[in-house]
Amino acid sequence: MSILIENISQQFGSNSILSKINLEISTGNLVALIGPSGSGKSSLLRIIAGLETPSQGRIWFSGKNATLLSIQERQIGFVFQEYALFPKLTIFENIAFGLEIQNKYFKSQVKSQVYELLYLTQLENFLKFYPYQLSGGQKQRVAFGRALAIEPKILLLDEPFGALDIKVRKNLRFWLRNFHEKLPVTSIFVTHDIHEAMEISDEIVLLKNGCVEQFGCPQEFYEHPATTFVQNFLNIAS
Ligand SMILES: Nc1ncnc2c1ncn2[C@@H]1O[C@H](COP(=O)(O)OP(=O)(O)OP(=O)(O)O)[C@@H](O)[C@H]1O
Ligand SMILES: [Mg+2]
Repeated sequence: MSILIENISQQFGSNSILSKINLEISTGNLVALIGPSGSGKSSLLRIIAGLETPSQGRIWFSGKNATLLSIQERQIGFVFQEYALFPKLTIFENIAFGLEIQNKYFKSQVKSQVYELLYLTQLENFLKFYPYQLSGGQKQRVAFGRALAIEPKILLLDEPFGALDIKVRKNLRFWLRNFHEKLPVTSIFVTHDIHEAMEISDEIVLLKNGCVEQFGCPQEFYEHPATTFVQNFLNIAS
């Protein structure tokens, strides 16, 4: 599903958080959203997910106006930085949760779908474990599995690997890229790590004070940084 962000602005009182954001994201792309702390990354994701209503502008999913759709109607998978797993449910039950509350599947269907997700997230051996028995990287994969259970066409990831050490981060980064190849999903992930953005994304959005400073593929960022701010952002990170 493609995502068109049209003239989105967000204001809280006299504070302008996002200002006239325009972005067009093609179906199947993995897009990194980067920028300094407070630049509006999470706010933009929340608006796309329907967790927040923008002051102005519209969101389109494959040509359909999604601005007024509820969170459920948008059918988006969302992964937060803190995995937010249910501690008293097993890994199997955590992943099944999204399917069960939809109340539209038979038990046997839920079971086979969860097995498929456990396979995709490489957690087949952990289905009876509880979250406290898993490592950070494994928990993060459960969070992915749960977000994917509803078969979203759009996946939004807010610093999905933020809490993990560098080695696990690197593994999961490539895992996400591979995994993206296999699924018909369009994803936006927030990261503070420019290397992560450069390595795995098809396109990068750099926000500064609620405005898009540059939008393009990693190569364009390297070869043609639009402003000195972009240049500095790349330099500081390297
Ligand atoms: N509900 C709200 N009311 C008032 N201000 C808000 C609200 N939500 C976010 N903000 C402000 O909007 C700005 C952008 O916040 P946001 O969480 O989008 O930043 P971010 O780019 O995700 O930062 P970080 O990298 O630190 O997570 C911040 O200054 C924040 O204080
Ligand atoms: Mg944030």
